[in-house]
Amino acid sequence: MGKPTNIVWHDSHVTKEDRAKLNKHKGAVLWFTGLSGSGKSTLTVALEKELHSIGLHTYRLDGDNVRHGLNRNLGFSPEDRKENIRRIGEVGKLMVDAGLLTLTAFISPYREDRNEVRRLLEDSEFVEIYVKCSLEECETRDPKGLYKKARAGEIKDFTGIDSPYEEPLSPELIIDTEQLSLEESVQTIIQFLIDKQYIK
Ligand code: PPS
Repeated sequence: MGKPTNIVWHDSHVTKEDRAKLNKHKGAVLWFTGLSGSGKSTLTVALEKELHSIGLHTYRLDGDNVRHGLNRNLGFSPEDRKENIRRIGEVGKLMVDAGLLTLTAFISPYREDRNEVRRLLEDSEFVEIYVKCSLEECETRDPKGLYKKARAGEIKDFTGIDSPYEEPLSPELIIDTEQLSLEESVQTIIQFLIDKQYIK
């Protein structure tokens, strides 16, 4: 798809900075990436609850959920995953503009696709959080029974089995869910957000 033509950008009178002042915090995308079953959804659900309880404006975007609506026409080929992440990146950017701390939980297996999202946003607005968990442990957890199906050949292009996952090379944060409890993981992220002055 090329660049749009005959289309003019309209600026708002209310800016991102105005919204941040009103909200008393800036927007950002907390981008959780990791294998299926690594704990992305569990972690973002628990973290959002905690952030909301201390008065922050949040929103959570999750792979399974977004694929029910906005991205229902996309599958799991490399091209479709790329388009999935591109759209989420654009939605995330809108949410940051609206002043939200946006938590995204997508496998997002390709480094290049994640970096494209990083490039869409300002430096401090993209926080890549690698939800680290070995394939062996994810397969043992298998919360949805998908690894079993993939091993049986009932699901094709399954991440970690017959589709790649490219680990982040320099994420802002690594959460090892084989080492940390859910509570410890949430507290580690909150401490990071305080240290980096995303929240007070
Ligand atoms: S991606 O790679 O970022 O586009 O994937 P995402 O949008 O996060 O969707 C991942 C969820 O879809 C289910 N699922 C699959 N995952 C990986 N590979 C294949 N082939 C596949 N088919 C279905 C699965 O429930 C993933 O959810 P999580 O929460 O990661 O387990």
